[in-house]
Amino acid sequence: GDTHKIRASLLDWYDENQRDLPWRRRRTTTKSGNDKDVKEEEEDEKRAYGVWVSEVMLQQTRVQTVIDYYNRWMQKWPTLQHLSQASLEEVNEMWAGLGYYRRARFLLEGAKMIVAGGSEFPNTVSALRKVPGIGDYTAGAIASIAFKQVVPVVDGNVVRVLARLKAISANPKDRLTVKNFWKLAAQLVDPLRPGDFNQSLMELGATLCTPLNPNCTSCPVSSQCRALCNSRNDESVMVTDY
Ligand code: ADE
Repeated sequence: GDTHKIRASLLDWYDENQRDLPWRRRRTTTKSGNDKDVKEEEEDEKRAYGVWVSEVMLQQTRVQTVIDYYNRWMQKWPTLQHLSQASLEEVNEMWAGLGYYRRARFLLEGAKMIVAGGSEFPNTVSALRKVPGIGDYTAGAIASIAFKQVVPVVDGNVVRVLARLKAISANPKDRLTVKNFWKLAAQLVDPLRPGDFNQSLMELGATLCTPLNPNCTSCPVSSQCRALCNSRNDESVMVTDY
């Protein structure tokens, strides 16, 4: 039905059109023999650290700006263990210009906490939520993108995309509204490629399904979009509310 079509269309579109971002690059290491499982676990944990740093930076800043900050951060602290040794002064200095310095402090405190606990990166939403500064959004992003957990991620872009796709008109600032979108996203997330699926929704919201003048003619899910078929993707309720 609709759900399968939406998943397939979004994933195909994402495969073709995703932006080349440093935290999306896969490190290529040879995986062979008995080392396989260990290596893959290490890879997941490295990716988790990168996803964590990038998602926290992206919560307040445009992708284009984040790229440089991310690369500098990773050069200075390539792993969680490196970060755990940093001082608050160093971290704040690295963060300068991004704002909300509390987030940088949380990254440092979180790194210290994980390393103190034996360095195993938490890999479920509930375990991730126990790390300082990791909320529902960041927990969902890390769990799905780094650890392939079938969990949703909802940010402002995802709310807008889903609102249009399902022609839902509601106040996005309302707590209950946001809760409903998490439920909707949980039903929609692709069970085989949850991380890519979640990023495809965010990517669609950032590039085509924009608040004003969405580019519906290029949209991979336009034929499933109830807002478009109701002609409500213009500057009416759906657009101005989300
Ligand atoms: N915005 C925040 N996180 C993102 C991600 N992982 N992909 C695309 N846009 C994003």
